Amino acid sequence: MRQDPLGYLSTELQALRDQGLYRRLRVLDDEQKARTSIDGRSVVNLSSNNYLGLTTHPKLRQRALDAIRRLGVGSGSVRTIAGTMQVHMELERKLAAFKRTEAAVVFQSGFTANAGTVSSILGRDAVIVSDELNHASIIDGARLSRAAIKVFPHRDVAAARRILQDVPRGTRTLVITDGVFSMDGDLGALPELCELADEFGGIMMVDDAHASGVFGSHGRGTVDHFGMHGRVDVQVGTLSKAMGALGGYVAGSRALIEFLHHRARPFLFSTSHPPSVAATCLAAIEVLEEEPQLIERLWENTRFFKSGLQALGFDTGASESPITPVIVGEGARAMALSDRLFEKGVFAQGIGFPTVPQGKARVRTIVTATHSREELQFALDAFKAAGGDLGVI
Ligand SMILES: Cc1ncc(COP(=O)(O)O)c(C=O)c1O
Repeated sequence: MRQDPLGYLSTELQALRDQGLYRRLRVLDDEQKARTSIDGRSVVNLSSNNYLGLTTHPKLRQRALDAIRRLGVGSGSVRTIAGTMQVHMELERKLAAFKRTEAAVVFQSGFTANAGTVSSILGRDAVIVSDELNHASIIDGARLSRAAIKVFPHRDVAAARRILQDVPRGTRTLVITDGVFSMDGDLGALPELCELADEFGGIMMVDDAHASGVFGSHGRGTVDHFGMHGRVDVQVGTLSKAMGALGGYVAGSRALIEFLHHRARPFLFSTSHPPSVAATCLAAIEVLEEEPQLIERLWENTRFFKSGLQALGFDTGASESPITPVIVGEGARAMALSDRLFEKGVFAQGIGFPTVPQGKARVRTIVTATHSREELQFALDAFKAAGGDLGVI
């Protein structure tokens, strides 16, 4: 009989079970929204990136349906062959205007935007100076580029400076940070890193996945929030989180964008978005421009929920955004807290190593503009009870 050559995977899965880190996929029975049904249970949902509730916004839904009726369900090709439709071009024009850059290019996801960009604009001879908590897609892009990767401790600008001082003059250098860190909810040291990039002649890049639609005027991101327009060479954003649909984009100079058209591998070698996705994202930008009250409500809810958790005695780390971690230490404890919350009607996912460092496991919460006060209070009451049961508070 043939031995299973993948047998070692089962051994590794068993190890995860033994450590209490094995996770079954939770399945939504309903739409992605603030109160929904997951695995047959009605829950207050604190785990989506649907910051503004746009996944179910009537305008986006209608635009998607119109696009399907008018243009079908698929683009049928990669962008560089036959998969560029007018609606893709219109979205890119709109994104560039929104981000106040010369041009923009859309990728299939934020992940491919980061990985495709970092890997194509740099080569073996370059140095990448990267915050230690930068997203996996930046790390993968950096590895694919074959550049030297120099990691500085989280937000430690002095350490980044020391790295840059050691880089031989004339070396092509990229300084890169997340705008909002996805597991901690704190902000990248963007203004200080821009100064460093300027001083050492480096390229400055920010991944604003969790800042798009959340920070800056009408959700333009951290570049706008910090008044850094013109100082950041490469801005990445997602269309998958606050924008409610799917995709990622790069905004920057026309030369950068045209270069990506020719060299970014996900752009060249993977099919473009269905027209309905591009049409939905166009509608999302319109909503950001027309309904700023959504962002105001997101921030009111964020203040209410974060201060509520803190008043209960939870460790919420250094969060400055709607992402609020509840840090509990060991992975198994975070999973137990998440499970206990679920039993009480609140969905907040436990996150452990390797997504966050050992000993820093957490339950990660994200509020949205569409949570009602009652739902957030219900969630705080559940945290109080579950945290008390498990001795977290
Ligand atoms: C910081 C950061 N960058 C990039 C991404 C990838 O974005 P997307 O989900 O659109 O691929 C994510 C999402 O998980 C993220 O948190």
